[in-house]
Amino acid sequence: MTFKKHSAGILGTGFYVPEKILTNDDLSKIVDTSDEWITERTGIKERRIAADDEATSDLSMRAAEAALKDAGVTPEELDLIIVCTLTSDRIIPSTACMLQTRLGAKKAAAFDLSAACSGFAYGLSVATQFIETGAYKKALVIGAETLSKYINWEDRNTCVLFGDGAGAAVVGEVEDGYGILSFDLGSDGSGGDAIQIPSSGSRLPVSKETIDQRLNLIHMNGRDVFKFAVKAMGNTVKHALEKIGMPQEKIDWLVPHQANIRIIQSAAKRLNMPMEKVILTVQKYGNMSAACIPIALAEAAAEKRFKKGDIVALSGFGAGLTWASCIIRWSKEN
Ligand code: ACO
Repeated sequence: MTFKKHSAGILGTGFYVPEKILTNDDLSKIVDTSDEWITERTGIKERRIAADDEATSDLSMRAAEAALKDAGVTPEELDLIIVCTLTSDRIIPSTACMLQTRLGAKKAAAFDLSAACSGFAYGLSVATQFIETGAYKKALVIGAETLSKYINWEDRNTCVLFGDGAGAAVVGEVEDGYGILSFDLGSDGSGGDAIQIPSSGSRLPVSKETIDQRLNLIHMNGRDVFKFAVKAMGNTVKHALEKIGMPQEKIDWLVPHQANIRIIQSAAKRLNMPMEKVILTVQKYGNMSAACIPIALAEAAAEKRFKKGDIVALSGFGAGLTWASCIIRWSKEN
C-alpha cells in the first residue's frame, strides 16, 4: 500500500570535514602499521580528525548551512531535522535538537537516527515518507560522525580505518518521476557483536574499570564485517531496483558506503558497474560511518558529476548489522 501524493527528492547538498589531516605515515608512528599495508588492504591514504573542541553538532551545523544554501531553503522552512549518527554530542539531548536551535529552525521536529553506516540511507528514506504523503514540505537529513573520539589508538585493527565528517541533504517535493524512486532497508541484529562499543549505555555503563579495559571504544571483527559487507552492498541495491522493476544497467552512479576500497570494488562487480561510475572518497576521508554517503553525494554534486535524470544508487551497510539503499533519479539541473 502506498500513500504517495508527491515525489520527494534532494533539493540541495553540503558537507564539511575537519581541517586536521591524519596520514597513514602519521599512524605508523603511533601503531605497528605502514602506509603500504593500509593502502593495499583498505584504499585509505588519509582521514580527517575533529579538533578537541569540535563535536558532531559542530560538523553537522557546517554541513547543514551548506546544504540549505545549495537548496535555497531557509532554516525557518524546515519541518523536520534528522541527524544520523552513532557519535551524538551526548546521549541526551539529541544532536538534532541542538542543531534545530542553532539553525533557528523554529517549526522543525528533530530526532537522531541510529543505524550506523547505513544511517543516511535510512534517514533519507524516512524523510521521503513525510514529503511523499504531504505531511511535511522540507526536511534536512544529516549524516555526521566524530568517530575519532571513540577510537582505540593502540588497536591497529581499527584505528587506521575511521575518520570524522558531516554531509547533509535538504529533501522536498520535486517534479513527478524524479527524486527518491525506491529504497531498501534491512537489519540482522544477530550480527550485532561484530561492531560495537561495549561500554556505552545501560548494559555496561561507562566506569573507571570499563575505561581501563578500553570497552568504551570501538571494537570490531573486521573479517566478519567484510564478509557481510560484500554481499549486503550489492544485494540491497538489487532489492531496491526490483521494487520498481528497474534493471541494473540503468544505474549511472553508485554512491557506496566508504569503508574499504576492496568492499566497494566487490559491490561494483556484483552490480556490473565499472569503477568510473562509482563515487569514491575513501582514499582521503576513510570510514566516517553515517557521514560517508552524504559527503560523497555532496562532493560529486558540487563537482557537477550528476546530470538531471541520472540514476544515482546509494548503498550502505554497517553496525547493527544494518544495510540500506536508495535509488534516486537526480532532479537538479547543473
Ligand atoms: N597494519 C598492519 N597489519 C595489520 C593492521 C594494520 N593496520 N591491521 C591488521 N593487521 C594485520 C592483522 O593483525 C593480521 O595479522 P595476522 O595474520 O598475523 O593475524 C593481518 O594484518 C591480516 O588481517 P585481516 O584482518 O585478515 O586483514 P583484512 O585483509 O581482512 O583487512 C580490515 C582488515 C581492513 C579491517 C578488513 O577486514 C575490513 O575492511 N573489514 C570491514 C570493516 C568495515 O567495513 N567496517 C564497517 C563498519 S564500521 C561501522 O559501522 C561504524
